[in-house]
Amino acid sequence: MNTNNNNNDPFSPITIGPLTLKNRFVRSATWDGMSFSDGLFSPAQVELYKQLSAGGAALLTTGYIGINQQGRRNREQNMLCNRKQQQSFSKVIEVAKNHDTCIQAQLVHCGGLADSSISLLPVTAPSAVEHPLFEQIPQALTKNKIEMIITDFAEAAARAREAGCDGVQIHAAHGYLISQFLSPFSNQRDDEYGGSRENRARILIDCYKKIRDYVGHDFMVTAKINGSDYFENGLECADSLLIAQELAELGIDAIEVSGGNQISDPLTPIPKAIKAGENELPFANEIYAFTEALSIPVIAVGGIRSREMVEELLNKGVSLISLSRPLIKEPDLINQWQNGREEPATCNSCNRCFIPAFKGKGIKCMQKK
Ligand SMILES: Cc1cc2nc3c(=O)[nH]c(=O)nc-3n(C[C@H](O)[C@H](O)[C@H](O)COP(=O)(O)O)c2cc1C
Ligand code: SF4
Repeated sequence: MNTNNNNNDPFSPITIGPLTLKNRFVRSATWDGMSFSDGLFSPAQVELYKQLSAGGAALLTTGYIGINQQGRRNREQNMLCNRKQQQSFSKVIEVAKNHDTCIQAQLVHCGGLADSSISLLPVTAPSAVEHPLFEQIPQALTKNKIEMIITDFAEAAARAREAGCDGVQIHAAHGYLISQFLSPFSNQRDDEYGGSRENRARILIDCYKKIRDYVGHDFMVTAKINGSDYFENGLECADSLLIAQELAELGIDAIEVSGGNQISDPLTPIPKAIKAGENELPFANEIYAFTEALSIPVIAVGGIRSREMVEELLNKGVSLISLSRPLIKEPDLINQWQNGREEPATCNSCNRCFIPAFKGKGIKCMQKK
């Protein structure tokens, strides 16, 4: 049973690894479509993080940041592969920390979901398999390439640390590269990176270990993982839980539990039509199973909309509450809740905020008032 959260007040501080967070709210990783095409952070992102920092959440997670060009998915995607990108990130970090707020960089390789028209490189994945999510059959990664990717994750983490970040989050969820390795459906390898649970998890475990080697222990490292992929022959909760336990034994600071990918409708990572008090927290079973079994802090994400849900999660031992879309619609929601607002988030989970982002104009709430 998780005993990390022994005070259920959502506005009480909590220690996560080397950090003391001022409250229990996290801004979940949210790609904002506002970066420059060379991966640099833009002035629009400095403004966005100023606003998020002032809004009350204790920990801000960036949108997914690419660790190398081959794993890139979007033109407007931040990258952490060189010094210039690192320096532009520093400007965002500086404003993000304005209000006693911490920031972690989410690191990703998109694997079979990378876009070769943007990366200008072949798409790679654990195995050369047809997959309903992939636009083409990817090239299977060689062992040498896998080792290079692990080093790229560690180097990007070191850059995040040097840029002033408080931590990094390994993106191991939602069908991107590490998630593709974890899932038997997309990982059909017969070497030490495929087959058994231990082998499928090797890339994640090695990434974590190498990141630690590069950043040390006084820097927060977390991972976001699917509690379940929710499709046949995908990652299942029993395996996901054992992988998280191994990460916990190795010293990871917290695990964010998400779920699904675009072919697991309706249990997709960004579930639609969530209504406060009706169908919040679609990944509840897995989130509570993780909370019960892990000795490290669990971060709950996915369709959390009401104060009642927040309280229930904290009462059941979850340490942190992670929100994405509610903070697109109402960046100061946490402050409002702290100041006594009772009403739930007004985001209706329509996902129309992606529309301007896919046109290169950045995410923006499109809900009619
Ligand atoms: C516009 C947008 C971009 C997102 N980008 C990311 C991302 O870069 N990395 C990630 O792990 N999740 C991403 N997510 C998923 C969120 O972090 C979160 O897991 C999901 O939206 C469910 O939480 P919510 O109901 O509070 O929105 C994104 C969600 C949205 C709406
Ligand atoms: S467009 Fe607005 S209401 Fe709809 S999901 Fe996005 S933030 Fe929520």
